[in-house]
Order: sequence, then structure tokens, then C-alpha cells
Amino acid sequence: MPLPRLLLSRHYPEAVIARARRDYQVVLPEHDASANGDALIEQLQGVDGALISASNRFTATIFARLPAEVKIIASYSVGYEHVDLDAAKAKGVVITNSPDVLNDATADTALLLLLAASRRARECLQMVLNGDWVGWSPTHLLGKQPTGKRLGIIGMGRIGRAMAERCRALGMDIHYHNRSRLAADLEGDATYHATADELFRVADFLSIHCEMTPATTKLVNARTIALMPDAPVIVNTARGGIVDDEALLAALKSGRVAAAGLDVFDGEPKLHPGYLKAPTAFLLPHIGSATLDTRNAMGFRALDNLDAYFAGREPGDRLA
Ligand code: DGY
Repeated sequence: MPLPRLLLSRHYPEAVIARARRDYQVVLPEHDASANGDALIEQLQGVDGALISASNRFTATIFARLPAEVKIIASYSVGYEHVDLDAAKAKGVVITNSPDVLNDATADTALLLLLAASRRARECLQMVLNGDWVGWSPTHLLGKQPTGKRLGIIGMGRIGRAMAERCRALGMDIHYHNRSRLAADLEGDATYHATADELFRVADFLSIHCEMTPATTKLVNARTIALMPDAPVIVNTARGGIVDDEALLAALKSGRVAAAGLDVFDGEPKLHPGYLKAPTAFLLPHIGSATLDTRNAMGFRALDNLDAYFAGREPGDRLA
């Protein structure tokens, strides 16, 4: 039996490519770039499956044009808003994601953002690099102390819970909103809020960990920010589209929101130019899961799903 033909849509870490080459006839584009539209269809010619990233958009149009031999698309991501699952189902294409293995790395990034934003790391770094630091002062660059404050987590899935774990160690009081309340052993000492609005009302700090869906698009907006306690800190490691950029930027400018820590942006890698001029916005270039261990584990998880499919078994992370 010839090995299945597999497109690697991006240049994944070496160990992932090596394992793929062991078990598949690998098609690897010469350059690492996000192919979309015609370029994506071009890459998908002559393969049985593909290991894709969240930067490859599998829209209904792409599924309509998908070569018939492509039977499975394994995404190297936990998020899957870039894949139209209904269109995939209609076409009979199997879709998987790679959850779990990035929980710690992503929660670490959320914690980094929470601390960096609340301690004004961008302004601090800028001052040092500009040579503007003239010495210690009792009231210089005062930040916001997380200890004893309420952390509101939107989306208490595996990453949200890993963030809660970390923030308990900071002495924070954990509150959350989720589609459904967690079982007692997962909830621990966290306080459940049945609606997002209820959570906004108590969130001195807010960390976003929900999926991006029509219901969560621009969930953080002028109305919901106005519900929050005075001068909160907002952290986003989920998807940029969950935040209304205009509203957040206006709130940062007025001080209504003290600071924001953002790893993801609507329309990334382009971001709203206002963020470049917002000193209280601490910005990262979507590196939530970017450790070698995690990126290897994501690739291995995606390959486990592909292996299962081609061996006639049910892939563990099947979404469609
Ligand atoms: C994910 O896994 O969803 C990350 O955001 C990378 O796309």
C-alpha cells in the first residue's frame, strides 16, 4: 500500500515534519507562507489529507473547490473558526483540531500578559530603551496589584482553567462565565456567573478564553466595558475578533480600562493602528502556544488524528 499523500501547509517544527515524512508522502511548499484562496487550492492538488494551520482559511468556497481526493483536514490549532464545519460535513471531509497540548503554554502567555499589562511593562521597557529613566521614584510607573482582586474568566475550558490555576497562585479571586457550569471538582473555589454581563460586572481583571463564534464576536465592547468595575485590566489570548478594538482603544485612552494585554488581533497580522500608539496596551504577535515542546505536541496530536483516520479508526479530535 503506498503511503497516503499529505500536504503540510506550513513549515512545522522539524520533529513534526520528520514524523510526517516517516508515515506519509509529504508535500511541503518551498516557502513557509499562509496559502489561501487559489494558492490553497493549488497546494491541495493530489493529496489525500492536509495538516493546516489557523492561517489557512477553509471557507465554503474552498470546500466547494476542494479536490475530491482530500478526505481529511487536520488543523494545527485548538481554534477552528477558520474552518467552515458545515461545509466540510456537506462535502464529507473529516476535520480535526489539536486541543489540550497547548493549555499550559497558552495560559502562561495569558499570565504574562496579565502581569505585563498591569505592571505597565511596555511603558517601562520604552523608558529604559529610550534612555529616559532618571532614577527610582516612589510614584513612578505605578501599576495595578492582582492580589485579592477578582479575575473574570470568559470560557472556563481547559485553557481558562489553566489560567485560573496560575492566578490562584497570585492570590486572585476566580470568577467565570461559561456556556455551562463546571462540575464541582473542576470549578473548585471559582464563582460561576450564568451570564457574561454578570461576569463583566465583577471583573477587576478579565481574561478571554472562549471560542470565537457569532455569539462571542465583539463580546468586549463599549456596553460591556461600561459594566466593568473601575479601571480593569483586559487580557486576550483567544481570538482578536472577540474584542471591539475601537471600544477598547477609546477606553484605554480615557483610562476607563487601565491596561490591556493582547496576543491576538482582529485581522491579524494587521492590527488596529491605534494599538501602536496606546502605551497601556501590551502587545504580543500571537505567540500563545509558541514553545518548541508545545508546537511539537500540537503537530504530533494532529498527526495522531491523521494516523487514526488513515488506519480506519475514529480520530480523537474529530470536529466534523
Ligand atoms: C490555536 O491553537 O488556536 C492558536 O491560536 C494557534 O492558531
